[in-house]
Amino acid sequence: MTNPSGEHWWKDAVVYQIYPRSFADSNADSIGDLPGVTSRLGYLAGLGVDAIWLAPFYPSPLVDGGYDITDHRGVDPALGTLGDFDELVSRAHAAGIKVIVDIVPNHTSDKHPWFQEALSSPAGSPARDRYVFHDGRGDGGNQPPSDWRAHFGGSAWQREPDGPQWYLHLFAPEQPDLNWDNPEIRAYYLGTLRFWADRGVDGFRVDAAHTLAKDLRDPLRSQPDLDRHLPTDGTDPLYDRDELHTIYRSWRQVFNEYAPPRMAVAETWYPITDRAFLYARPDELGQVFDFSLHKCAWDAHQLRHTITRSIRQQHQAGGTPTWVLSNHDISRHASRLALPPGADPDDWIMSGGTRPRINAAAGLRRARAATLMMLALPGSPYLYQGEELGLPEVPDLPADLLRDPTWERSGHRRKGRDGARVPLPWTRSGPSLGFGAATAWLPQPAYFSDLSAQAEDDDPDSTLRMYRDAIRLRHVLGLSTQDLVWRHTPPGVTGFDRGHTLRCITNVSGRPITIPAAATVLTSSPISEPGTLPAEHTAWISLDATG
Ligand code: NOJ
Ligand code: CA
Repeated sequence: MTNPSGEHWWKDAVVYQIYPRSFADSNADSIGDLPGVTSRLGYLAGLGVDAIWLAPFYPSPLVDGGYDITDHRGVDPALGTLGDFDELVSRAHAAGIKVIVDIVPNHTSDKHPWFQEALSSPAGSPARDRYVFHDGRGDGGNQPPSDWRAHFGGSAWQREPDGPQWYLHLFAPEQPDLNWDNPEIRAYYLGTLRFWADRGVDGFRVDAAHTLAKDLRDPLRSQPDLDRHLPTDGTDPLYDRDELHTIYRSWRQVFNEYAPPRMAVAETWYPITDRAFLYARPDELGQVFDFSLHKCAWDAHQLRHTITRSIRQQHQAGGTPTWVLSNHDISRHASRLALPPGADPDDWIMSGGTRPRINAAAGLRRARAATLMMLALPGSPYLYQGEELGLPEVPDLPADLLRDPTWERSGHRRKGRDGARVPLPWTRSGPSLGFGAATAWLPQPAYFSDLSAQAEDDDPDSTLRMYRDAIRLRHVLGLSTQDLVWRHTPPGVTGFDRGHTLRCITNVSGRPITIPAAATVLTSSPISEPGTLPAEHTAWISLDATG
């Protein structure tokens, strides 16, 4: 990074996402924890990342992997204490690593004291007004108030257990939606941002940032299909409404109370239109995830088009690009890119990894090439724990161990995201391959041994060594200040220059291509012979040497 202590450090930071329950288990109870993260800060510093983003570590009944929270200002006892959190932040800072935490504003757990109070309070009471309760339709109010659907399947309305009303949940029924028209909720979250900022966190990842505001006029408007194209003018009753931007402007004022101002990155999955980038405006959250690279086919033309569009849209909103190939919600890219073109990763996971047949070697090759391309781009790449080891998705976890609510809510038609959350392998052997306990909370396949940090540390051609090299070079070469200029390339190849420093060439095709014999290859995925870039590889070439 060019200016790690400057207030805009996040604009080109390499951010590493930690899913704490699956990262490192310090007390051998089979669940990863905050002291486990602290114990691995040396590894993260060696990898060269600028920041870590901690997925939720707050007290949670774990219906949705920690995104169902009973106290937004605490630490789940299974993961540690606030003291452990403070220790992690101070040790991370000492190692030159910033800390970003997840903020989950759309919903709480149904076990949150607020929701329990709401259930035992009458309709129209202030306690109920913290959530979105509504009378049902039809005889005796037995029908849900509208046809709104939840993300994990089924209706977005749940009848309260011992009463006449229904409550809204865009995710699992155990995640009731908060009412953002209520000033108490707005004030509570401003206080929560300050609570963590005062403890030294450098930024926030805002969960489901496009969902907080809802149009609850009666009768409720119909919203038949979550996958349809949403209106592009902010008029959808549930998503991406204009009122959200007022909320985030007030958050920005809190971020700016601190020096340097705290950063924030919005998670918005729907809709992928120009409007998504408005969350990144400088007087709002400043940054928004762009998931288009993870959705992009392995195709040179589409990769170039996707990257060009993303950079343009982000700049139009006054933001800077972000890039994501993997995270805790999507199948790992080493497996995704192993599938035949057009295949749906969820179908493959559903078949236990048997259909369609994958080409695992090609998947890893393409994943490395795609990563190296991403790390050469302007803006901020977000990495997901284990991708630096080339970990694949684990599609064949035993059904009785699946924890993702998608599995039950879809009537066992979708397995969900557990296969991307299998605990990390740190060592070639030993209890849970160095993760911690004798067995991890999700079983690691035997082949994780060869993909362990220890095994890859010893191998100069490993994925881990490639990530380390590329992240180091990204910083050393000062790529953040350099323009991106696309090169004219043959079909099946993408190439761009970063200033006068670096040329990044990705051979997406199935055949080797020639590159200047005298080219100095700074890093590649992996080593290429002089003058040749093999199929499905990326090389960073020094422009100093090629002229
Ligand atoms: C997005 C999170 O990344 C995902 O894991 C979670 O299930 C939903 N938001 C609900 O909080
Ligand atoms: Ca533990």
